[in-house]
Amino acid sequence: MTTDGSQTTAGATAWHPASWRGLPAKHQPAWPDVAELERTCKGLSTLPPLVFAGEARSLKAELARVASGEAFLLQAGDCAESFDGFNAVAIREKLRVILQMAVVLTYSSGVPTVKVGRIAGQFAKPRSSQTETIDGTELPSFLGHMVNDLPFSSDNRRPNPERLIQAYNQSASTLNLLRAFTKGGFADLHRVQAWNQEFVASSPEGQRYSDLAAEIDRALRFMEAAGVSSNHPEIHEADFYTSHEALILEYEEALTRQDSLTDDWYDCSAHMIWIGERTRQLDGAHVEFCKGIKNPIGCKVGPTATPEDVLGLCEALNPDRDPGRLTLIVRMGADKVADNLPPLLEAVRDAEHSVVWASDPMHGNTFTAESGHKTRHLDDVTTEVSQFFAAHREAGTWPGGIHVELTGEDVTECLGGEEEVAQGDLAKRYETMCDPRLNGRQGVDLAFRVSELLR
Ligand code: PEP
Ligand code: CO
Repeated sequence: MTTDGSQTTAGATAWHPASWRGLPAKHQPAWPDVAELERTCKGLSTLPPLVFAGEARSLKAELARVASGEAFLLQAGDCAESFDGFNAVAIREKLRVILQMAVVLTYSSGVPTVKVGRIAGQFAKPRSSQTETIDGTELPSFLGHMVNDLPFSSDNRRPNPERLIQAYNQSASTLNLLRAFTKGGFADLHRVQAWNQEFVASSPEGQRYSDLAAEIDRALRFMEAAGVSSNHPEIHEADFYTSHEALILEYEEALTRQDSLTDDWYDCSAHMIWIGERTRQLDGAHVEFCKGIKNPIGCKVGPTATPEDVLGLCEALNPDRDPGRLTLIVRMGADKVADNLPPLLEAVRDAEHSVVWASDPMHGNTFTAESGHKTRHLDDVTTEVSQFFAAHREAGTWPGGIHVELTGEDVTECLGGEEEVAQGDLAKRYETMCDPRLNGRQGVDLAFRVSELLR
């Protein structure tokens, strides 16, 4: 392989971090000053990596266990992270609900839960329309804080490359805190009861969680009394990985580095990155970029995906059939998954491709409530996951995980749950910058519903 884009003997251009350039890339901002963008990315390319290649390899090894049915994947976090109100409490609360959900899933399935956040880099959004028009004024759509800002003015909506640097800096400090929390005692299993936040603990699902936590406490005390030391790193620390949609390829390219141990290329902006439903074209820039990096890669698979599309993605992104390399994230909609998923499962299974299958039960179930709020109902979310499990049972394949949008906070963005959020409640605490997220209670509720499917 050449690293400068020169021709190989076969005549094809060899992969390099910029080889996506020149290929069609959908959902890209119309940067007003491309020279400024390139200058900014040149600066980014000299900054330290956010994650290390060895960490991405560890995640890949864990995902390989998911691919073979020995572990379950929980990928969760914001639809879009925000530069506003960035603070430690919000990060802690998100981590807390993910740890709670993982405990529920592990306890009922008896297999480890691999924890991956949509966090520390989830700042760029593809939008159905390039522009938004309000009262006759047309401006670029909001594309995430990595690109522009939400309030409707031409200043805010102008794509600004300086935001790439701010995204990098916020990712770095988020990762720093996550590492501190997960390795410094917060994630200790002895604190399983303390992860139950006040507003969650007071609800039926929080009570159910508390009962489960008490069982874990008793088991830990029993082990200690029986002389079995619980002094293992697995008890005191958690492995937690980061991921985001790799939409803005100039940013991803700038953070792509060659690993000194293996000479392989890694996108060091996150442990795992994924390709969105709108940018998964086989001849497009996003697939090309992901082909050459060694990180674990996700790819969304929506209701229009054919078996040929999916086999093409497997061949392009994981030609060596390396377990853990590729996660297919299915987001069909509760009313479509039962019909559309089985042919995909059968095709991938019969072609003997090794993939992790995860269910994103959020993005195919969005609708607009009477109040105008974009929302999702927890019942539709649960229906999609249970149909996903049923299709796997039928195909003899492993329903490897779930991919969800949530926050640890007590927001009212999605409907339903044991402590019902109703249409009239949506306006109370609707805080998302993009898609509606499950709140902490609904997240724990979903984990219990999934754990019943896993039993
Ligand atoms: C998302 O995950 O926020 C997203 C935009 O999803 P999709 O690509 O599946 O539409
Ligand atoms: Co979303």
